[in-house]
Parts: sequence; C-alpha cells; structure tokens
Amino acid sequence: MTGTGRNVPLCMVLGLFGLFMIRASGDDSPPGKLSSAPHHDQMRQLQEFKASLVSGSAISPSPSPQQQVVSGSRVYHVTDYGADPTGKSDSIEALDKAIADAFQGPSEGVLMEGISNLGGVQIDLEGGNYLLSKPLRLPAAGAGNLMIHGGTLRASNDFPADGYLIDLSSTTQEEMKEGSSSDLNSELTSSSSSYNYEYITLKDLMLDCNYRGGGISVVNSLRTGIDNCYIAHFTSNGILVQGGHETYIRNSFLGQHITAGGDAGERNYTGTAINLMGNDNAVTDVVIFSAAIGIIASGQANTFSGVHCYNKATGFGGTGIYLKLPGLTQTRIVNSYLDYTGIVAEDPVQLHISSSFFLGDAFILLKSINGVANGVSIVDNMFSGSNKGVEIVQLDQSKAPFTQIDQVVVDRNNAKGMNIKATVARGSTEGNGSSWTVDFSPVLLFPNLIKHVQYSLSSSRDGVFPNHVLRNVSENRVVIESDVAVPANVFVAVDQSLST
Ligand SMILES: *[C@@H]1O[C@H](CO)[C@@H](O)[C@H](O)[C@H]1NC(C)=O
Ligand SMILES: *[C@@H]1O[C@H](CO)[C@@H](O)[C@H](O)[C@H]1NC(C)=O
Ligand SMILES: *[C@@H]1O[C@H](CO)[C@@H](O)[C@H](O)[C@H]1NC(C)=O
Repeated sequence: MTGTGRNVPLCMVLGLFGLFMIRASGDDSPPGKLSSAPHHDQMRQLQEFKASLVSGSAISPSPSPQQQVVSGSRVYHVTDYGADPTGKSDSIEALDKAIADAFQGPSEGVLMEGISNLGGVQIDLEGGNYLLSKPLRLPAAGAGNLMIHGGTLRASNDFPADGYLIDLSSTTQEEMKEGSSSDLNSELTSSSSSYNYEYITLKDLMLDCNYRGGGISVVNSLRTGIDNCYIAHFTSNGILVQGGHETYIRNSFLGQHITAGGDAGERNYTGTAINLMGNDNAVTDVVIFSAAIGIIASGQANTFSGVHCYNKATGFGGTGIYLKLPGLTQTRIVNSYLDYTGIVAEDPVQLHISSSFFLGDAFILLKSINGVANGVSIVDNMFSGSNKGVEIVQLDQSKAPFTQIDQVVVDRNNAKGMNIKATVARGSTEGNGSSWTVDFSPVLLFPNLIKHVQYSLSSSRDGVFPNHVLRNVSENRVVIESDVAVPANVFVAVDQSLST
C-alpha cells in the first residue's frame, strides 16, 4: 500500500513532463493541435474585423425558404443530381451539387467553435461507381457531422496527378492564400475555427485512383473517420493526414496494385499507403498490400494496432512502417503483422512495439540521426526468418553513432531462423583458472554498452574461498578475475537499458 502511495506523485510529475515535451516540440513540428492555437486567434480576429465591415448575416448564410420547406430526409442521393452510377461519364458536378445542398440544410448548433453541425447529413453513393475528373471537395470549411458512403469513386484519365479523390482541405483558405482578398463574403463564410472540418465520416467506399494522385487527403481537420474503405491504384498517398488530429483509419484495405502477395511487380511498387503528418491519429485493423512504404508518420502520438503490412519487401527497398519523427516519437505499434517488410524509426524517443509478428526476415531498424534512443520498448514480439542470420533489431549508425541511449528495452522477443538482439542478457562460463570472460557482443544491441552487471562465482573446490572481482565490461565482454586459480562456474546478467 505504501508503495502505491509513493508512486502516484511520481506518475503525475512524469505526466506533466510529457506535456511539456509536446509543447516544446510543437512549434517546429508539422502543424498540430497545440501549435494551431495562434492561428485560431488570427482567424477569429480576421473574422471579427470583417464582420464589422459587412452585415452580420453574411457570416452564416440562411437557408433559402424553399429548402426550409423540404423537411424530409437528410440523405442526399447522388443519382438525383444526375451522377452516372455506371462510371461512364464524369460525375463530379453532380456530386458537388449534392454536397452543396447537404451544406445548405439546417445547421444544428456548432461542434467545435466555428464549425457548424450538419446534423448527420449523408451523401449516399447508392452502390454506384462514379468517374471523377476532379477531386471531390466540400464547398466551404467550418462544417461537420457529415457522412459520404456506399459506392466507388474512380479517377478519370485526366484527373490531376497531384489531386486526391476526396480532398478535405479548405477551398476557401486556398483561395485566400492566392491573394483575392477583395471577396469579403467568401472569406466570411470560411471557418473561424482553426480546423477545417470536424466529424466527417468516409465509409464503405472503394477509391480507385487510376494511378493518378491519391485517395483521401485530410487537412487540418478534427475527428475524421475513414472506415471500411478500399483504396487502390494511388501514386502519391492512399491517405494523407496533414495537421488536425484524431483521424481514425479503421477496417480498411490499401494497395497501389491489387495483389494478394508474391506479386511479380512488387519491386516496382511506389507511393505510400498512409502518410500521417499530424498528431493523435489511429490506424487500426488495416491491411496494406502494396506500396513502397506502408505507413509513414511524421506527427507524434499516433497509434497503430492490427496493421498487416505486406507492401514492398524490405529486401526490395520497401518499408512497412516508417517513423520519421526523430527526437519525439510517442508511437505505439501493437498487435501488428509485418510481413516481409519492417519498421524503421529515426532517433526514437518514446516508442513501444509489442505483441507483433515479423515474418520473412522482417526486422526493426533504429536509425540514428542525432544519436538519440530514449524510452524504447520492443518486447514480446515474434520473429520468423530463413536462417540467413538476420538480426531482429538493427542499428543504422551511418549518419551518427547512438550516444544518448536511455531506457531502451529490447527483451522477451522470440526468433525462429533469425538472430536475437536484446538489451538485457544472461550468460555463464566455466573454467579452471583465475579469469573468466562472458562475451555478450553477439546478443547485445548497442556496441560497447553495459550499464549494469550482476554475477556470481560458484566453485566446488573444498576449502578454498577465492577473492574475485568484476574487472572489465568493455566491448560487451564481462571479465571476472580471482586471486587464486580455482575451477568455477561464473553466471552473469547484464543490462543496457537502465536509466542513467
Ligand atoms: C518493373 O519496372 C520495370 C522498369 O520500369 C519494367 O521493365 C518491368 O517490366 C516492371 N516489372 C513488372 C513485373 O511490372
Ligand atoms: C585445476 O587446475 C589445477 C592445476 O592448475 C589442477 O591441479 C586441478 O586438478 C584442476 N581442477 C580441475 C577440476 O580440473
Ligand atoms: C578492458 O578491456 C579492453 C579490451 O577489451 C582493454 O582495452 C582495456 O584496457 C581493459 N580495461 C581494463 C581496466 O583492464
């Protein structure tokens, strides 16, 4: 009981410290929830200024009387707007019109400040297959609680190669950036929130990018759900998340080429299935079957669970999950399946990888940028390979050696046909003499680093009580010496992971 009582304040201190770290990094990292606050204020000031020039009614356009009379369903069927469900003719205008009408409906209060609540309005694709010549975008920022679901969208042969089939960026903000600040009304209908959208759900969709551009782009939005989507034939990103937070990608399938593995064209895979340039997102129960990189994360505090990557194999230059956020990682990868393709983490600081399965010599690479590895747990995973001596966890120190190593635990993993690497190890040796050496260099992850040693010397020779001492731990080799020669067994436990 007293132990528990003592631990509580320590946890709180650690919690506050973690918060401080996030804030400290917020300014130079990709736009995230914490660094966006000044932008929010700017937007609100801009809006207040404009509102003083123009009548307040322009801020939220009131629905036309005709639309108020229609008090029926809030499900918008795209074929009612002339969309072609056979996929033969371009349906972008019809879909744009359906979404524009959905935006005109009654708004029921707000979600986040400046985001109007569309009340759960649905764009129903009615099981059709629609050709798009341009990205599908929402008409204005500052709205939420809308769902698009139930059909296929396919990029046309002249779809912009840098576009996304569904683009949740803010059209109004881009127009503002392009400098036409004369149109006050269009600026005033733009969001006063620092987020473009909140609670947009994209569900039960197949997105065929037709090797032109990407599938879904979520820019500076909040609580976006991507659920049961199949995204294929992308060349840039299957899903791009930029800024904002809490985009939840779940129960989905992504691949550049449609294959079930062992594809002859695997070496040619390009593109990234999921690109997370933002904080606090989750990817759960997702299969990535072809892409050069399965998931790349450059924002903090993302979590991956139940991800099966069999995109381009590591041996062909591919990566399953790439954590490109050196210095503050805060990523959890659990219960995932890295299938011939591994994980790369640059200068990991707070990284947890557990309960995952690595097949086909797939391994974890810690890549040094400034030599930092701190708070890393790689535990309770299974590795399976082909007896080529591939190590389960490897270091890339080509740029800089790891010099700031603290609280790195690689332990309790099992390997079949691969070589175990760990930060804790046990060994023993026996001999008749005054010096015993146990060499841990084949198993310890970091070269020349032992922070803690325990040993015992056991001798069966009657009547002799030798003095003995730990003499040397250099190069991961533990040397024990005694003052007299004795036949003895020496047992040694070493640890590289202790906090300094
Ligand atoms: C891969 O790309 C190369 C060069 O672009 C091409 O020659 C080859 O046919 C492609 N292989 C497959 C299987 O698509
Ligand atoms: C150990 O070595 C000594 C000589 O150095 C020898 O007398 C003794 O029998 C050896 N003991 C064993 C158990 O081999
Ligand atoms: C420890 O061993 C290394 C070689 O492994 C040697 O260079 C070094 O001098 C030794 N240190 C001591 C104190 O004996």
